[in-house]
Amino acid sequence: MKSIAPHSLAASHTPRREFLRQLGLGAALFSVPGAFAEELSRKTASAEEGPFYPPKLPLDTDNDLIIVNNSITPAVGQIAHVSGRLVDASGSPIRNATVEIWEVDSMGVYLADRPQQAKYDPNFQGFGRFLTGSTGEYYFRAIKPVSYPGRRAPHIHFKIRRKGQEPWNTQLFVKGEPGNEQDGIYNRIGDAQARASVTVDFVPLPDSRISEVAARFDIVLAADSAS
Ligand SMILES: [Fe+2]
Repeated sequence: MKSIAPHSLAASHTPRREFLRQLGLGAALFSVPGAFAEELSRKTASAEEGPFYPPKLPLDTDNDLIIVNNSITPAVGQIAHVSGRLVDASGSPIRNATVEIWEVDSMGVYLADRPQQAKYDPNFQGFGRFLTGSTGEYYFRAIKPVSYPGRRAPHIHFKIRRKGQEPWNTQLFVKGEPGNEQDGIYNRIGDAQARASVTVDFVPLPDSRISEVAARFDIVLAADSAS
């Protein structure tokens, strides 16, 4: 429906090749030789879906959460380029899977919560989907997550849908965020290694004039994602 502008809010009609270039940049910056192979020795930890999956999906469900439809007004918040690869435990890309994310806006409000809130950011899409191709890669333009009432640490919800399988859920947490240790869901995810599998560095993009960050979150699923 629309293209994604990686570097400038004003350039909201950047051609698709610019978006792809950005993906390549992210991969080059954040892939560490050997690290991914080690990741494969264990699955990414799952986490509960929680109560805020949108009860009704927005009209725009693309992978750019910063711009709703053809609006010229972007969402408020620090833009975060969130990408990664969906693979099985043997390292093979998982294609034709739908990666869904949802998160609060800069004021801490979920789409699901808007009817109860006087103030929210109407320019934030709040939810997005990405269908993986042959490489298993996914990409979203989102905001760096913020805390919200209820004392949750900042997080982004992920749901993976694969044909013929139960949906798989997790939550992505921000590395170095002091609230993580106090977060009940974070602590229930499992041991330190399990928590590390869903704790991701949000790294400043060096050439960004608007303080964008990038997060690389590779997701390793079992052959049967329900496990
Ligand atoms: Fe949440």
